[in-house]
Amino acid sequence: MTGSVRVAAVGDLHCTKGSLGAFQTLFSRIGESADVLVLCGDLTDRGLADEARVLAKELQAVKMPKIAVLGNHDFESDAAADVVEILAHAEVTILDGTAVELSGVGFAGVKGFAGGFGERALQAWGEEPIKTFVRAAVDEALKLESALARLRTLGRVVLLHYAPVLDTVDGEPREIYPFLGSSRLEEPLNRYAASVVFHGHAHRGQPEGKTAGGVPVYNVALPLLQRLYPDRSPFRVVEIPAQSTAPAPPPVTASREPTQ
Ligand SMILES: [Fe+2]
Ligand SMILES: [Fe+2]
Repeated sequence: MTGSVRVAAVGDLHCTKGSLGAFQTLFSRIGESADVLVLCGDLTDRGLADEARVLAKELQAVKMPKIAVLGNHDFESDAAADVVEILAHAEVTILDGTAVELSGVGFAGVKGFAGGFGERALQAWGEEPIKTFVRAAVDEALKLESALARLRTLGRVVLLHYAPVLDTVDGEPREIYPFLGSSRLEEPLNRYAASVVFHGHAHRGQPEGKTAGGVPVYNVALPLLQRLYPDRSPFRVVEIPAQSTAPAPPPVTASREPTQ
């Protein structure tokens, strides 16, 4: 397989029961510009099955492969399994520590979690609720690592909801930085040489950043793109080389707990 695949990315659609028709302009522009659509979580506003049904109807207009991860809003009503099932019937592949290959490009996805960035990230120390919170972030990073390890494509696209780096949350109130993402997600991106990372969740962050290893990171939260680029369609397209076989990634030699 040679050539390239145009990947359109957007997150934080926050679809409500009243959103029928609201995404048709967006989806039709995506249809003209891309080969694959990736959705970076907060697909629904309250995590309701009825909201997912509206989004499923809206997505009927998108005649290309559709890949998504869930966001925190999709868990609000304890109906995430229903949201996944409804969207699966609408031919949306929901990734959760899993990976798929399409037209010679690999896609790995996980929701991610919070906890903060760099040396100031929350550590698993002290009370049990703190340890449980940090364990959730570590588990998401391990799921991302195992998804990336399965891919044998040269091009590796990563979908997240939470941010893996500080760059793309800059601009948000500093008090909520630790709730917008986790550096624990960054280490697998560098080790497995992701081609590009898309995330959402930080509605008031920055659109572009990169990991310490130079992997481009794009915040594609719809409200952010609408505010920054009022004259453009609010999604990002990245062209990824299509190649089905690549050298196996390096073996996992570090400890199973990702470092900061
Ligand atoms: Fe959101
Ligand atoms: Fe979110």
